[in-house]
Amino acid sequence: MRPSITLARRGSLLAGSFTSRAAAAGPSPQPSASGQPSDGSRCRVALVQGSSRGLGLEFARQLLQRPDHAVVATCRTPSAARELQELQRQHGSSRLAVVQLDPNDEASIAAAAEHVAAQHSHLDLLVNASGVLHDATMTPETGLARVTMDSLLKCFQVNAAGHILVCKAFAPLLVNAAEAGGATPERPAVIANLSARVGSIGDNQLGGWYSYRASKAAVNQLTKCMALEFERRKQPVACILLHPGTVDTDLSKPFQRNVPPEKLFPRERAVRQLLQIIDRTSMQDTGRFYDWKGTEVEW
Ligand SMILES: NC(=O)c1ccc[n+]([C@@H]2O[C@H](COP(=O)([O-])OP(=O)(O)OC[C@H]3O[C@@H](n4cnc5c(N)ncnc54)[C@H](OP(=O)(O)O)[C@@H]3O)[C@@H](O)[C@H]2O)c1
Repeated sequence: MRPSITLARRGSLLAGSFTSRAAAAGPSPQPSASGQPSDGSRCRVALVQGSSRGLGLEFARQLLQRPDHAVVATCRTPSAARELQELQRQHGSSRLAVVQLDPNDEASIAAAAEHVAAQHSHLDLLVNASGVLHDATMTPETGLARVTMDSLLKCFQVNAAGHILVCKAFAPLLVNAAEAGGATPERPAVIANLSARVGSIGDNQLGGWYSYRASKAAVNQLTKCMALEFERRKQPVACILLHPGTVDTDLSKPFQRNVPPEKLFPRERAVRQLLQIIDRTSMQDTGRFYDWKGTEVEW
């Protein structure tokens, strides 16, 4: 088994000595109105799926702070995603494209991939941030008696199937990142699927939350399969799973009462930490599951 890559090995990321790739690369090429840098150098393109709110929205916000990045933010209902629209007003549509994509619907995923491929020749980063734990018809199960077909299927559909089908549709653009001259085994294109520590079977001490836990275990397995396939084909696309910690979003809201304040992360902090991990990802990391500290989580 490969040694786990912690932030200590990666450098003192949390001690402030970390330099992002964008910063390390020196002056950044600025995407022009066409979305390509005006100096002819290569623009980095990041796509965030599930960016209407929560962590996905924060990923889009922080990626836009990198001047050499163009961001594609997808969500189910762009007209209802007011904060995303506001970001687009601030940054302009050449820096931020808002694209409709419903991860429950393969036709919608395919249409979004076609739309993005018409605008961009490659993708450097794909973050799958959509996820469901509860909604109007579903609360996480406290016991076996509460498990239903509906909750199982919804969690699997959104948290596992949606992520892998989005990866499938955008894989050609991620592979193109190598051909566009940007991706190498040391600095690959990256797929980061948001998982959760509760998806770890080895770490499961409490039980409960059957559907959500199982759907996260499923996205872990699907992502591992995909990682092995890219590796076997010698394509520099690293696939990682991330546990963001407990973050103050709509998803965790009903369960925050018992979380000590220091363990409930603001979104800004959580995404900053996850982007540090993504920035340091090489093909050595592919197929691995990291928490927000950069420590590997057991399966
Ligand atoms: N927050 C945490 O403490 C925490 C901890 C561990 C892991 N995570 C994971 O991190 C990811 C982001 O979570 P978050 O905290 O940002 O959640 P959030 O604020 O509730 O946002 C959820 C996102 O998923 C989309 N979504 C929700 N239900 C959906 C459905 N039925 N079909 C398609 N899309 C749906 C939402 O889109 P709409 O706006 O269209 O509904 C939204 O973009 C999730 O995968 C979650 O499991 C979060």
